[in-house]
Amino acid sequence: MCYNYFMLIIEHMVENDLDQVVAIERVSFKAPKSADIFRNDEKKYLVARESGSVVGYIGVEDIAGERHVINMAVRPDRRCQGIGGKLIGAVLDDDSVFFLEVRISNQAAKKLYENFGFKQVGLRKGYYQDNGEDAYIMKKEPRNT
Ligand SMILES: CC(C)(COP(=O)(O)OP(=O)(O)OC[C@H]1O[C@@H](n2cnc3c(N)ncnc32)[C@H](O)[C@@H]1OP(=O)(O)O)[C@@H](O)C(=O)NCCC(=O)NCCS
Repeated sequence: MCYNYFMLIIEHMVENDLDQVVAIERVSFKAPKSADIFRNDEKKYLVARESGSVVGYIGVEDIAGERHVINMAVRPDRRCQGIGGKLIGAVLDDDSVFFLEVRISNQAAKKLYENFGFKQVGLRKGYYQDNGEDAYIMKKEPRNT
């Protein structure tokens, strides 16, 4: 018989989470954000916590009445198990316009966002400074438009 001890809690990031968040950031991105950037943006972030450990995070900010997903990652050993979906589901609402940028090579993230109603609406040429890669601009409309 199998027992499922998997229990995920999504809540606001706090100072104590920063070391784990930065560790996930470093293994997830070629140009990781620093601890200071996360500290400044602390209120914009949610973390996914499992048995006290941070297994993922997402950051969202408001710009001129629109919601922008500024960052998101899941710890590599916990990817493809639905945590990214739980994080994006936790920040979306039916009434707001959401935007985000995603590397054109990042098919996993693009697919995840499409599953949640984001559509590709444009391209930012050379958006990523580390390798000059383009970004897809993705947008999710409010539900009743
Ligand atoms: C993108 C990321 C956050 C997804 O998190 P995750 O927990 O693995 O995602 P989930 O398990 O919730 O997957 C949700 C959906 O995403 C898609 N997906 C996830 N991983 C995928 C992969 N390796 N290949 C293709 N599709 C993938 C699938 O459509 C999946 O839904 P499905 O299984 O029902 O088809 C994670 O891969 C990650 O941290 N990547 C590195 C950082 C990053 O790229 N962040 C996004 C920057 S824009």
